Amino acid sequence: MKIVLITGASAGMGREFARQLDEQVRVDEFWLVARREERLESLAGELSHKVRIFAEDITLPEFPGKLETALREHDADIKILVNCAGFGVLGTFAESEMTDATGMVDLNCRALTAVTRCCIPYMRRNSRLIMAASSAAFVPQPNFAVYAATKSYVLSFSRALAEEVRTSGIYVTVFCPGPVATEFFDIAEKHTESYVYKKYLMLPTEKVVAEVIAAAKHRQTVVTPGVIMKLFRFYMKMIPHAIVLKISSKIK
Ligand SMILES: NC(=O)c1ccc[n+]([C@@H]2O[C@H](COP(=O)([O-])OP(=O)(O)OC[C@H]3O[C@@H](n4cnc5c(N)ncnc54)[C@H](OP(=O)(O)O)[C@@H]3O)[C@@H](O)[C@H]2O)c1
Repeated sequence: MKIVLITGASAGMGREFARQLDEQVRVDEFWLVARREERLESLAGELSHKVRIFAEDITLPEFPGKLETALREHDADIKILVNCAGFGVLGTFAESEMTDATGMVDLNCRALTAVTRCCIPYMRRNSRLIMAASSAAFVPQPNFAVYAATKSYVLSFSRALAEEVRTSGIYVTVFCPGPVATEFFDIAEKHTESYVYKKYLMLPTEKVVAEVIAAAKHRQTVVTPGVIMKLFRFYMKMIPHAIVLKISSKIK
């Protein structure tokens, strides 16, 4: 059975991937994963494809086993996997809640790795693996320290994996957007507001997702949506991070 599998499909970019891919690919089923079942059901009602809902917390230890069983039982052929579930919380590390600090690592790194590990054996030639990193991956970020570190992991992991699986015909695309207009900031800003310039950098979800899908079609490994973030990525390669850290710790 040919499928598209999307984690984090109940909101933001994951939901938008489901909507855009629904119009662009033909598979047997879309498998949508997130905790909020009613959101997934409402999205399923919008899509032209048959949908299978996994209302699951993917950080729970039993999730990879459940996913693997479902993949095996349905003889799944994953044409596209989108690893989109993720969250970040702004604020200093010392003042962070333990569940947020370790939760970001659990969801953004461990669960993403486990889902990917379960899915790879069910991906054949000319399939796509799309990973949500962030422009926060490009440089360490005081006040977003754990989140930025988790996204550096996703970027590094995805780039290495892209090389490993290319010869099997699996193409990895990792995307690194700046701020995108989703519910992400409802959680991110629960204790502290973002930098004031966030509102000038914010991109619409539809535009970001369209750019990522186009990049995945062209087998591009890293995509940084928007001109400003492309420039940011370029300068973060050129300027020593010690200098960036000094400057960024002075900006509020
Ligand atoms: N928005 C931005 O500015 C931005 C920028 C760069 C990168 N990103 C990254 O892009 C990805 C998508 O973010 P977004 O902006 O679309 O955020 P969002 O609107 O907050 O959506 C996050 C999704 O993750 C799901 N999720 C959270 N915890 C989960 C868990 N334990 N188990 C299963 N699903 C879970 C949520 O669903 P439930 O709550 O229903 O479980 C939701 O569907 C994330 O990895 C984020 O780090 C976002």
